[in-house]
Amino acid sequence: MSLKLPPYTFDDFQVGMKMRSQGLTVTETHIIQFAGLTGDYNPLHVDDVFAKETIFEGRVAHGLLVQALAVGLFAPLVAGTTIALLEVNSKFLKPVKIGDTIYVESEVVDKKPSNKYNGGVITFKHEVKNQRGGETVATIETKLLIARGGLATKKNALKM
Ligand SMILES: CC(C)(COP(=O)(O)OP(=O)(O)OC[C@H]1O[C@@H](n2cnc3c(N)ncnc32)[C@H](O)[C@@H]1OP(=O)(O)O)[C@@H](O)C(=O)NCCC(=O)NCCS
Repeated sequence: MSLKLPPYTFDDFQVGMKMRSQGLTVTETHIIQFAGLTGDYNPLHVDDVFAKETIFEGRVAHGLLVQALAVGLFAPLVAGTTIALLEVNSKFLKPVKIGDTIYVESEVVDKKPSNKYNGGVITFKHEVKNQRGGETVATIETKLLIARGGLATKKNALKM
């Protein structure tokens, strides 16, 4: 069996193909940096005293932070072959707390060649899981325009 190393091109992905990322422990630094980056200082994320009084009984990561970390964990597979990220749809099912370790299980659910670009749109379904028995904390669908023949340079990505 031969193993092709990432990044993967449009032709490397097949519907039904499954991938699993490495794990990542979510820390307070992630939450504070994300709050600073986005300006979202909701006390649910940054105020221990307040957060203890909520249904989560403690601080939780921003949903969009979980989404960004999940896309980041997947990113090495398409780093350099992605022409553009087209769409993201997420559902946040369980809280991610400081110290939780998340990983991403991804599956190719659709593949459509593009008329305009040398490559096409791949739809991925991602399940973000934690260390507690692989509990699913979020489901994310992404659509990426991915180059066919190699890296997504303009010369390679555009049909001539
Ligand atoms: C990606 C982008 C250049 C495409 O625009 P465009 O050149 O006008 O091309 P189109 O809108 O025709 O889309 C290209 C193809 O993708 C398909 N497509 C675009 N968005 C899609 C979506 N959300 N779902 C499914 N297919 C989609 C189109 O149907 C089209 O298919 P075709 O080539 O078979 O006709 C433009 O939408 C863009 O710049 N978006 C911003 C992307 C971005 O910044 N992402 C974050 C950083 S990577």
